[in-house]
Amino acid sequence: MDFTDKVVLITGASAGIGESTALLFAKLGAKLSLVGRNQANLQAVADECEKQKGLKPLAVVADLGTDEGVEKTAKDTLEHFGRLDVLVNNAAVGARTTIQLANMETFDHVFNVNIRGVYNLTRLLVPALIESKGNIVNVSSIMATMVTTGNLPYSLSKAALDHFSRLIAYELAPKGVRVNVVSPGITVSTFVQRLTGYSDEEYRAWLKTAEATIPMGTATTGDDCAYMIAHLACDKLSRVVSGAVVPVDGALQFAGSGNSEILKEQIK
Ligand SMILES: NC(=O)c1ccc[n+]([C@@H]2O[C@H](COP(=O)([O-])OP(=O)(O)OC[C@H]3O[C@@H](n4cnc5c(N)ncnc54)[C@H](OP(=O)(O)O)[C@@H]3O)[C@@H](O)[C@H]2O)c1
Repeated sequence: MDFTDKVVLITGASAGIGESTALLFAKLGAKLSLVGRNQANLQAVADECEKQKGLKPLAVVADLGTDEGVEKTAKDTLEHFGRLDVLVNNAAVGARTTIQLANMETFDHVFNVNIRGVYNLTRLLVPALIESKGNIVNVSSIMATMVTTGNLPYSLSKAALDHFSRLIAYELAPKGVRVNVVSPGITVSTFVQRLTGYSDEEYRAWLKTAEATIPMGTATTGDDCAYMIAHLACDKLSRVVSGAVVPVDGALQFAGSGNSEILKEQIK
């Protein structure tokens, strides 16, 4: 994989999966536009990226839950680099709620960041991607298809993101623009602690319990996701791959699906 001279925009690059993805693309020679709200964290990631190949990333501090933040992200990136080759829509927020506990503020917050922001940023950057025959990688979640209680608007937003990706993959295919999705399972990042307020110790205990539910017995890392994002963004490795939704989850999506009793003794 080589992204020399490619301009790659990564949202949610100030932490977690976005941070790992930024570092990987920096190692692969990309020119980076990195987006997040926390300026200090974003700058720290940008500095780390610059150390890889000496290329200074553009750090865009913006709230992607607002139209202004989205417009600033698109404008600053195109003004700075004059082109875009890869758009990674990674930033998202979670929410713990059910239909019985729900309120519309939570719904709007989740959908503003996870769907409206992605829709709007993609809309604004599609002309540049058509020009470069670039591609999009959206970061979804296996929660888009798993059925659980407590993740209602988040799961809905990710289901919408998956289908948005398929719809625009089809629309943009004749223009030479590919669109794919990486769907992480339980991934080590700051996401769960933001959602729950767990201390580091509580988070470690939660992760241990959560890992026990993963068929492969291990949580996903930011690097696991970054490698798949880069794989899908790479025209050499994924030339005609578009509309794909790739789980990076240790087969967690199938947990709870049940095992046949037949041949149990032979395969244990
Ligand atoms: N962690 C998991 O278990 C897991 C599982 C499945 C899918 N995912 C998905 O993976 C992606 C990355 O999540 P993560 O685990 O890396 O989470 P994370 O550690 O919480 O990082 C989230 C990133 O998104 C940014 N962000 C959030 N709201 C934003 C907003 N309104 N405007 C701009 N940036 C915003 C954050 O920036 P600031 O901190 O600067 O605000 C941060 O850089 C998300 O799409 C998430 O749904 C995660």
